[in-house]
Amino acid sequence: MTTVRRVPDPAALLPPIEPFRVKAVEQVHVRTRAERDLALSRANLNLFALRSEDVTIDLLTDSGTCAMSAAQWGALLTGDEAYAGSPSFERFDKAVREIFGFEYVLPVHQGRAAERLMIAALCSPGDAVPANAHFQTTRANLESFGVHAVDLPSPEFWQFAEPLPFKGNLDTVALERFLGRNGRAKTPFVLITLTNNPCADQPVSMENIRTVRAITSEHGLPLYFDACRFALNAWLIRAREPAYARASVPELVREMFSYADGCLFSAKKDGLAHTGGFWATRSKPVAERAAAQLLLAEGFLTYGGMTGRDLDAIAIGLRDALDEEYLRYRIDTTAYLGTRLIAESVPIIAPPGGHAVYLDVAQIVGHLSPEQNPGQALAIEIYREGGVRTLRMGLRPGPEAGRQEPVELVRLALPARVYTRNHLDYVARVVGNVVRRAGDLSGVQSILTPSLLGGFRSIAGEAAKPG
Ligand SMILES: Cc1ncc(COP(=O)(O)O)c(C=O)c1O
Repeated sequence: MTTVRRVPDPAALLPPIEPFRVKAVEQVHVRTRAERDLALSRANLNLFALRSEDVTIDLLTDSGTCAMSAAQWGALLTGDEAYAGSPSFERFDKAVREIFGFEYVLPVHQGRAAERLMIAALCSPGDAVPANAHFQTTRANLESFGVHAVDLPSPEFWQFAEPLPFKGNLDTVALERFLGRNGRAKTPFVLITLTNNPCADQPVSMENIRTVRAITSEHGLPLYFDACRFALNAWLIRAREPAYARASVPELVREMFSYADGCLFSAKKDGLAHTGGFWATRSKPVAERAAAQLLLAEGFLTYGGMTGRDLDAIAIGLRDALDEEYLRYRIDTTAYLGTRLIAESVPIIAPPGGHAVYLDVAQIVGHLSPEQNPGQALAIEIYREGGVRTLRMGLRPGPEAGRQEPVELVRLALPARVYTRNHLDYVARVVGNVVRRAGDLSGVQSILTPSLLGGFRSIAGEAAKPG
């Protein structure tokens, strides 16, 4: 009998590389410290008010800031701009149906427009919508319509230092309790945000999705997804949920969405596009109500606030986002930044998320009170140190969320296919330098905090001052 010695695949022994090469470059601007100080004071310490030319590495968001592929740029020239019946829409519609499996697809100019279609089609004032967590725009849109947005994150999420695999899950015990108390009359649907961006972009497991589906079915309720980062979530299911280790990503996506009645989507994330999105559903009457809102606020049914060329770029981007080499690179890159930050002794929410790493602000500037806006103070200092723009994110958990005290995070979001590992090494050094002297940081005082979407205009509002 002969024994066959397995020879390892030599490629598997090599370090991971970016699965693309660079075709066009854009200047990165490096300012002096004095210039950054001036930029900060001109912006009244509001990082949203900085000119992007004064930012060296921009980690404010991954939304619409990705690098498109050569095929996407090419499609911008061939897009068909007909008002109605454009083949660009047919390609977009086909891609969405094939990937997600929904019957009715309504194009919109970005994710929050999809939120408004969903609310117009499904909600009435006085309702409550439970979710693993609502993204800020979803919450603001629900609340502006008189709907209560209820966050029910998994209790595991609050263990910030524990690298548990699915900290983005919805707390199903809390959901049962909520539905038992509120009944179905005032609950139009349940929402799962994939990945859970407000909760440090942690993924949701297939098991959790299935359990939530079972609970919603039992109560006769629809289940919708906020699918902005669906491909990253699918990849993380495959990497972390043993039963799915051998499934292909498109298969996983089909299974995930088979449990949903519909979804909202911002193509600025896993659509790998600079604009756009859609709202989709299986229900004809619901689609008809949403279509009325689409016509009122966005545009005709076959473009919905986008151009034909945007529709084509998204059709390609959606398929690119499911490419396994791309997904491996994307998740490895975020994990790499997490590892480099940990090496600099920076406390992060563990494990790193799909598209971003989140800093545990309380561990870094615990000496600052909530009134001193610790997250914003930290984000300002990171910019001052090295021109790296980040985003302060605040969580205001409600009584149902298993925690009452507000939480401050700073998000370092990685635009897809934009920055190299050298850039990330630079970022880790900048943040490490700030964290080493964080005990000396003083807070900032908010001069104006708008009631709606204050975090977006920055907690420091149109302006803040040292405080
Ligand atoms: C999870 C989630 N939902 C909804 C949105 C809103 O999408 P848009 O910015 O395209 O309006 C975002 C944007 O960052 C998001 O991250």
